[in-house]
Parts: sequence; structure tokens; C-alpha cells
Amino acid sequence: MESFEILECISKGSPGTVYIVQSKEDQQKYALKKVECNDESDAINAFMEEMELKKMDHPYVVGYKDFFISYEKEASSVFINIISQYFEQGDLRKLITEYQERKEAIPEDVIKKILGEIFEGVVYIHEKGIIHRNIKPSNIFKKDSGAFVLGDLGVSTLMGDMRTNTRQTYSGVVYMAPEISYQPHDEKSDLYSLGGVLLNMLTTHLFKEEEFYKKLGEMKEDPEVLNEILEELSEKFSKSMIGIVQTLLRIKHSARPPTFQLIKSGFIQECMAQVDSKQLDKRSRQKETGATKKYSLTDNKSDTQTVLEYIADTIDHEACVAEGLSALADIVRDNESAHMMIDQKARNLISLAMWDNIFNKDVQISGCYVLSNLVVFGKLNCSVLILM
Ligand SMILES: Nc1ncnc2c1ncn2[C@@H]1O[C@H](COP(=O)(O)OP(=O)(O)OP(=O)(O)O)[C@@H](O)[C@H]1O
Ligand SMILES: [Mg+2]
Repeated sequence: MESFEILECISKGSPGTVYIVQSKEDQQKYALKKVECNDESDAINAFMEEMELKKMDHPYVVGYKDFFISYEKEASSVFINIISQYFEQGDLRKLITEYQERKEAIPEDVIKKILGEIFEGVVYIHEKGIIHRNIKPSNIFKKDSGAFVLGDLGVSTLMGDMRTNTRQTYSGVVYMAPEISYQPHDEKSDLYSLGGVLLNMLTTHLFKEEEFYKKLGEMKEDPEVLNEILEELSEKFSKSMIGIVQTLLRIKHSARPPTFQLIKSGFIQECMAQVDSKQLDKRSRQKETGATKKYSLTDNKSDTQTVLEYIADTIDHEACVAEGLSALADIVRDNESAHMMIDQKARNLISLAMWDNIFNKDVQISGCYVLSNLVVFGKLNCSVLILM
């Protein structure tokens, strides 16, 4: 703590106290969040887990600077101290409140972009096996660029399902999935909370904060509450948007898809495609090369369905997508009737794979080869190919 100077307290008390601090090392401003531990073993556990958080490096997940445990004599208590990036622009709650005050709806395009950004962060942490446990608007921060990032992966993430003081906040509890009262958090419970955040963004013209919290609480018991809201929202927002809220806010844990499956949906892909630094993020996430890649298409390389499934399952892995598309190009080259198997869904997958890997020459050559064959066989017309 000697290397930081406290400048200002921005939020005090329950669940934690947040300060703006300045590093004596690089003179930058950071946020310091300080949370009291219920018992010392919590602190030790948090310390062990902290290493995982420090390894996180993603443009849509808040970066950590430092972490330490302190004992304060006056309070006779142990505190967890987390130093992270400081966001001058505030959080998503601030944006939502501004629209709520004006009783105005946030435009769908704006929501889609924010959703894409949050999904980028959520997918990243879930792929690393980390569960956030406390996704809500005040834990999603606005960068100077205007993009929103997933943050405060602090105490609740570090502490697992142990009870710390953070658990007591009403806003935190209200975004939590219904199953949390009887089973530990998992990625599907994070998705439910994300559904709550999305619904919050969609209803700024209908509810102020308190009223929204009340509805969010009620819908965990009574699905009709959500149905009524969605009916009203269907006049303002697209069917796909309504569909995704419905999916995320399914009361039954088993009815909610896991993250990797959810992001295959065309709508989520559209949202994620709006994220400005999409290509950049992808490149930093996909460090695998042909030699180090995790998955391989060893069997049934000549079966169109198997190859398409392989591409869908490994869509985030550039080297695998290149391998899959190359196998697909071979199939199309050797088998005149292969184009019959490449339906609209498969064409969407191929174009998504090409968009996602726009700088990969092998992906582009194989993808173009497959799509140009569809043109030859009349399954696609040339202008569609150019648009894809
Ligand atoms: N890194 C940060 N940069 C800027 N503001 C922050 C940062 N961390 C927290 N804040 C702000 O400080 C306030 C309090 O945050 P805090 O995390 O203590 O409460 P919370 O988000 O309501 O609850 P929880 O502890 O469950 O996350 C919020 O308005 C939040 O936006
Ligand atoms: Mg917070």
C-alpha cells in the first residue's frame, strides 16, 4: 500500500469501500476496493485464487494491478484490497439511470454493441474456467473509448461461494440466478445475471431502478412477470433481442444453454461482430498455431457434417477453423454432390468463420473456394457471395 496514495473515496461502506488512488511508480490513477473479510481463512483462500485473476488479459475484462490483505487494528478486521484500472466514465448503471430518468428507451443498436462487449468478456473468463458471480450494471465499466468492460471480478470471484460481506447487497442478490439459493454459482448462473442486465437496458423507458429490481425479483418465482414485460417490449425491440432475454432468464438452470453454445446463435454473433476491436481481440486470444493447437480433425475428414460440426465447435480457434475449411474445400473438390450438404446454416457458419479470421490467408482461400463452388452449383448467386 506504500506504493499508492489515496486521492478520494468514491463509495463507502457496504459492500466495500472504493477509493481512487495514485501509483507512486507510474503516476497513474487506479481504483482500490477494500472489503472486510468475515474470517481469516477467506482471506487466505482469496490470496490463493488471486494468481488466476492476475493472469487475465483481455480488452473487455478489467485488468488487475495488485492485491493484498491487510489487518486493521481499529476495526480488528482483516481486509482484502484489490487495485484495478480506474474508470473515470463510471459504469453501466450510470448510463441506465440516465435513460430511466428521461423515461427513454436505449436504442437497440447501442444495446447490441454493449451486449457484444460484455459477451466478449464473459466468454473469455468462462473459457478460463472463472465464474464472475456478481454480474450487474455497477460492475460493468465504461472505458474512455466508450466501450463497456466486465469488471469487479474481485471479491466474489476470489472468494468462491464463501459468504463475505459483499453478498449482502440487494442489487447483487436481485441479479442472481434463482438456483443460487441451493447450488453453487456456475457459468449458467452468470448468464442469468447477464440476462438481468440486458433486461435492465431494455426497460429504461418502463421502470425506474427500484421498480425494476422488484420485477427482477418477482420473475424468479413467477414467469408471467417476464412474459408481460416481453410482450410490451416486443413493440420496440426485435424478435431476436426478445428471444435472447428469454433464453438468458430461463428460471430452470437446465433450460439455459452453456456459454459456448449460446454464442453460436446468430444474434449473439451479430452483437459480438459490432465490437470495434473484435479482430484485435481474436488475434490476442488465439495464440495457437498449427503446431500447438488443442483440437484436431483426425477422423472423418471427408464427411461434410463432421467437418461442419468441427468448425462450429472450434470457431474461436483460428488454426482449427483453417483446418476445417481446408477439409471442406477438399470435400467439395472431390465430391460433386457435396454442395447438397451445405445449406443456409452451413453457409452462415462459413461466412462467420471467414469474417472472424479475415487476415488468415488459408481460411480466406478455402472459404472462397467452397462458396464459389456453391455459385457454380447454383446454390448461391454471385452477388450474395460478394456481400458475404
Ligand atoms: N475500478 C473502478 N473504477 C471506477 N469506479 C469504480 C471502480 N470500482 C468501483 N467503482 C464504483 O464504485 C461504486 C461502488 O462499487 P462497489 O463495487 O463497492 O459496489 P457495487 O458494485 O454496488 O457492489 P459489489 O461489491 O457487489 O460489486 C460503484 O458506483 C462503482 O461503479
Ligand atoms: Mg462493484
